[in-house]
Amino acid sequence: MRMVDLPCGEKVPALGQGTWHMGEDRRRRANEVAALKLGIDLGMTLIDTAEMYGSGGAEEVTREAIAGQRDRVFLVSKVLPSNASHGGVIRACEASLRRLGTDRIDLYLLHWRGRTPLAETVGAFEALKRSGKVRHWGASNFDTDDMEELAAVESGTAVQTNQILYNLSCRGVEYDLMPWSSQRGIPLMAYSPVNQGSLGGDRKIEAIARRHGATPARIALAWALRHKGVIAIPKAVEPDHVRDNRAALDLELDEADLAELDRAFPPPRRKEPLAMI
Ligand SMILES: NC(=O)c1ccc[n+]([C@@H]2O[C@H](COP(=O)([O-])OP(=O)(O)OC[C@H]3O[C@@H](n4cnc5c(N)ncnc54)[C@H](OP(=O)(O)O)[C@@H]3O)[C@@H](O)[C@H]2O)c1
Repeated sequence: MRMVDLPCGEKVPALGQGTWHMGEDRRRRANEVAALKLGIDLGMTLIDTAEMYGSGGAEEVTREAIAGQRDRVFLVSKVLPSNASHGGVIRACEASLRRLGTDRIDLYLLHWRGRTPLAETVGAFEALKRSGKVRHWGASNFDTDDMEELAAVESGTAVQTNQILYNLSCRGVEYDLMPWSSQRGIPLMAYSPVNQGSLGGDRKIEAIARRHGATPARIALAWALRHKGVIAIPKAVEPDHVRDNRAALDLELDEADLAELDRAFPPPRRKEPLAMI
């Protein structure tokens, strides 16, 4: 597995697994758990979840998938902005830990910015670090100005990642957020890297996919992973999708492929507001 350095020096897998829409329906639970376990066995040991997903259901699915192998996994979860006050963050984290069946979250993110001052949320994250319930913390859906504001609050530079929407169809971050982050050694965590599945059927990628004997989704994922400072977290329940995603790590796009993709999905020419799902 290729690894990406966090600012603290710890290495995490460049390719992980998402869990949005898991834990919403009991009839799908066994398949969801099996998919996450398969991904872990293939080396995709970073799992991204959130208190929001399935109203806690995705964290419960994650608990089942990591049971007996907690130490193999790098666990990411997120607190909602409505819980971002000092007391709210502590309570939300403790509830997530119970659902996840573990004593620590490896990386705890603010899901998106709300009204709570960043200094208060960061203070709570730091308190959770001192108590050992959280090992690292980070942001999600933060644009460049949000990251600058965050870096200016006390302990704000302890941020370990910013999880944002990034895929061939949504390249706005390449204009400013990506250079800003890479200059500071802060990896971006690309969510929806196959654009919620739509890039899997995108005809603009078909010719390149044929040349590589790969699926369009695999090309899209390999493209997101071409940056050294990007961690991608596709979500897949279909076992074939899980295997296909793992194979993206071994696929190298050459200059001609990248130029063709730039023509089909042009990079940004000016600042675009951060896109969010
Ligand atoms: N921080 C945030 O605000 C935020 C927002 C959105 C997402 N996220 C995180 O990022 C993760 C990934 O994003 P996402 O779930 O929105 O979208 P995604 O990973 O881009 O796409 C997931 C969809 O694509 C399908 N898929 C996966 N691999 C495929 C492949 N190789 N070929 C064809 N189809 C494939 C999946 O189908 P099957 O499941 O049927 O296999 C699923 O329907 C989420 O699960 C969540 O953990 C975070």
